[in-house]
Amino acid sequence: MTNNTNDIFNSEFSRQYDDYNHRLNEIANNLHLLIAILLRDLRENARILCVGVGTGSEIIRLAQKHPGWHFTGVDPSPDMLAVCAGKLQLESLSNRCKLVEGYLGDVPASGDYDAVLCLLVTHFIQDDQRMGIYQQINAQLVAGGRMIVAEIAGDMAADGFDEKLAFWAAMHSVASNAERDPQEIKAQLNERLMLLAPEQTERLIAASGFSSPQRFFQSLLIHGWTAKKAKD
Ligand SMILES: C[S@@+](CC[C@H](N)C(=O)[O-])C[C@H]1O[C@@H](n2cnc3c(N)ncnc32)[C@H](O)[C@@H]1O
Repeated sequence: MTNNTNDIFNSEFSRQYDDYNHRLNEIANNLHLLIAILLRDLRENARILCVGVGTGSEIIRLAQKHPGWHFTGVDPSPDMLAVCAGKLQLESLSNRCKLVEGYLGDVPASGDYDAVLCLLVTHFIQDDQRMGIYQQINAQLVAGGRMIVAEIAGDMAADGFDEKLAFWAAMHSVASNAERDPQEIKAQLNERLMLLAPEQTERLIAASGFSSPQRFFQSLLIHGWTAKKAKD
């Protein structure tokens, strides 16, 4: 597994990304409804950082509800960012959104974001570097600021994982309108992603300067956590 995912998030994939996800919209709608609930008490002019912003769904959903919020989106894939920039322009949101091509380490650690979202990204990061990203997110937040993370998680060596995998493959069969082979999906997970057991992610978040992480979401292998930056 390599840390560079631009071969996955290339031009063709980026153009199809939203259409594929649209067929799983009920899952995304649930995740984003809960995120909106978790963030509803932020100040009127809140600043939000979206790590691995991709085609920008999280920015668009939140920006439409909160006209005073400003967003920074960071992503290493120029192709995903191009789709994102086009959508922001169509929605007349570009003036409140800054896009940065690169990794979180390329964004100076300002410590002034009210919330950081990192959705469906961390499973691309090697396990020995995983804690680093939570620490980098922590450094971007104001004291008491909120992190929201969603990632594909599971202990692939555990008894019972293949049963979970069968449903995960079934989800992809629905999204792609073609039968997907669970073992082929498993090989792709092994090759491209680094899945951690949910309990391990929870421990890493807690050890990265956040107070008690709360698991607020699960749909099959997609797990979501929220945690606040601990006050000094
Ligand atoms: C599955 S997409 C998720 C996009 C968006 N957050 C969403 O929920 O629809 C994953 C995105 O993470 C980006 N990415 C991959 N590795 C990354 C890393 N180490 N840091 C930040 N972004 C990364 C990819 O380029 C891609 O745009």
